[in-house]
Amino acid sequence: MAIDWGVGRYEATGELLAPVSEVVVELAGPLTGRSVLDVGCGTGNAALAAAARGAVVTGVDPASRLLEVAAGRAAERGLEIEFVVGDAAAIPVKDQSAELVISIFAVIFAPDPAAAVAELTRVVAPDGQIIITDWLPGGALTVINGTAAKFMGEVLGGPAPKSAPASLAWHNAEALRAAFAPYGFSVEVEERSLVFEEASAEEYLEQSAQHPMAVSADRALSQRPDAEELRAELKSRLLAAAESVNEDPEGFRVTVGYTIATIRRS
Ligand SMILES: C[S@@+](CC[C@H](N)C(=O)[O-])C[C@H]1O[C@@H](n2cnc3c(N)ncnc32)[C@H](O)[C@@H]1O
Repeated sequence: MAIDWGVGRYEATGELLAPVSEVVVELAGPLTGRSVLDVGCGTGNAALAAAARGAVVTGVDPASRLLEVAAGRAAERGLEIEFVVGDAAAIPVKDQSAELVISIFAVIFAPDPAAAVAELTRVVAPDGQIIITDWLPGGALTVINGTAAKFMGEVLGGPAPKSAPASLAWHNAEALRAAFAPYGFSVEVEERSLVFEEASAEEYLEQSAQHPMAVSADRALSQRPDAEELRAELKSRLLAAAESVNEDPEGFRVTVGYTIATIRRS
């Protein structure tokens, strides 16, 4: 199912992910006057964090609605950032123009990872760096989101797409080395964690229901004559999944592992 990231309300998820942008931008070192490109910038978390540190920032994303939100946030903070509609497979910036290329949980969604890798290596400056975050598989998010994906698979069925491009494990150092080494780049990967907290599992799921993926799934369910039963079944399975990974008996808390890959010319 192709996702239109402009539907629903990614903003709520964006707020939960914002701390990762702060971590990555800090990790990148001093940014005053440096050119930064945020690929898949969404509502602008990393772009804003870099601009607040004095960088000259461009944010690129295929979802124009999210770019409008990002531009509004930048204006509220008095930050000048250029936001451009574009895709990781065809980034609309010049060769070697960005000293820091960031992609926070974004390029990982590119349907053609090989094209994205070629583009990331094309746009980064000769002594620049590329920093990419991905989720570590097997944790709480895998349990909750995997429950939704499994349910939608059961409901929608149908054959797997035949010509899907090979995917890339963006969290895996060896896979990234194999993808970037042909361009003359080396890769280091470190692991971090992020905590999601809400008053209850129900509240977490209510917020997640506005995520573009959940909204797209719901639109598919709405086409079915038994839509209401299907929605109720999905809700109950998601609640069971969320409760199964909940770390807080008084509310809702999950600790989610993610990776930060730093990629430079070797
Ligand atoms: C989970 S959101 C992350 C957004 C933002 N980086 C953040 O930290 O909040 C994923 C983002 O990837 C973008 N995206 C999806 N497919 C993409 C592609 N092929 N190229 C570039 N960005 C893409 C989506 O539009 C969305 O903004």
